[in-house]
Amino acid sequence: KSFLYRLWKGNVSSKMLNPRLQKAMKDYLTTNKHRVRFRGKRNSRLTREQLLCELRDRVTVKTLDGKEAPFSDLGWEKHVPQAPLSKLYPQGLGSCAVVMSAGAILNSSLGEEIDSHDAVLRFNSAPTHGYERDVGNKTTMRIINSQILTNPNHHFIDSSLYKDVILVAWDPAPYSANLHMWYKKPDYNLFTPYIQHRRKNPNQPFYILHPKFIWQLWDIIQENTKEKIQPNPPSSGFIGILIMMSLCREVHVYEYIPSVRQTDLCHYHELYYDAACTLGAYHPLLYEKLLVQRMNQGIRDDLYRKGKVILPGFRAISC
Ligand code: C5P
Repeated sequence: KSFLYRLWKGNVSSKMLNPRLQKAMKDYLTTNKHRVRFRGKRNSRLTREQLLCELRDRVTVKTLDGKEAPFSDLGWEKHVPQAPLSKLYPQGLGSCAVVMSAGAILNSSLGEEIDSHDAVLRFNSAPTHGYERDVGNKTTMRIINSQILTNPNHHFIDSSLYKDVILVAWDPAPYSANLHMWYKKPDYNLFTPYIQHRRKNPNQPFYILHPKFIWQLWDIIQENTKEKIQPNPPSSGFIGILIMMSLCREVHVYEYIPSVRQTDLCHYHELYYDAACTLGAYHPLLYEKLLVQRMNQGIRDDLYRKGKVILPGFRAISC
């Protein structure tokens, strides 16, 4: 059976990846850059329902509120938005779309379906202009990594991609989630551009994810995986799925688990080919996908043809 077919069935292991990706994964385990010390147990065999309940009970979307040092000493409380992300929609959102940036979404004609959702989440610099037929043009929220804020090529300050949307930024912190260490040595210094942006655009909701939230997600992926996963933060895609599960009644995820259009084309908007974009090297992406596959409540045909997974929001499940 093909790798794709096995992925749809949730029946793959890292041993089936190409040797280059396997080597990269091994190297990340050896390096352990973020000093991960996992204290839990691996391979807990939860059912779909148990897994959803576990996520609902343990995952709290946490953003920096400026109340903890060193941010409190730097006066961040007056810089961060008054309402935390979790309180932005007091009634909650209805149906939400999470649009992955995978090349496989090209020629999908999913744009209209995506725009029909109440809210649409996109990632990093993924454009809609020129790709409307396949990815739609509505954007409610964007998750951006710290490179977007710091790399001048992305024109974070003036690009329209980052205007009129809710922004959620993140950066890998040590597993200990020691905020002092993180502030001194972020992967990319997102703190300065964040404050500058807040000063200039005080009415735009813009958050930085708390490292505790990110590593909490990592723990859950590892607990539910037999193999040792890369000791690096989950991908923006997985982070986004969990944020939307906490805000929406139902979450439709597009081209995370690849459709029949699967390709090594990394992004739909860029001519760059690398299987690592879909299967992971730095991020524990393959394991994230296996976990999401286990929670899918959509139909088989949607997965194969649209690359679509349907997940219930935390509000919609009873435990
Ligand atoms: O590459 P980037 O992080 O901007 O893409 C957003 C997310 O989309 C990734 O974090 C990953 O979860 C997902 N993705 C994917 N397959 C690809 C490209 C992106 O699953 N080929």
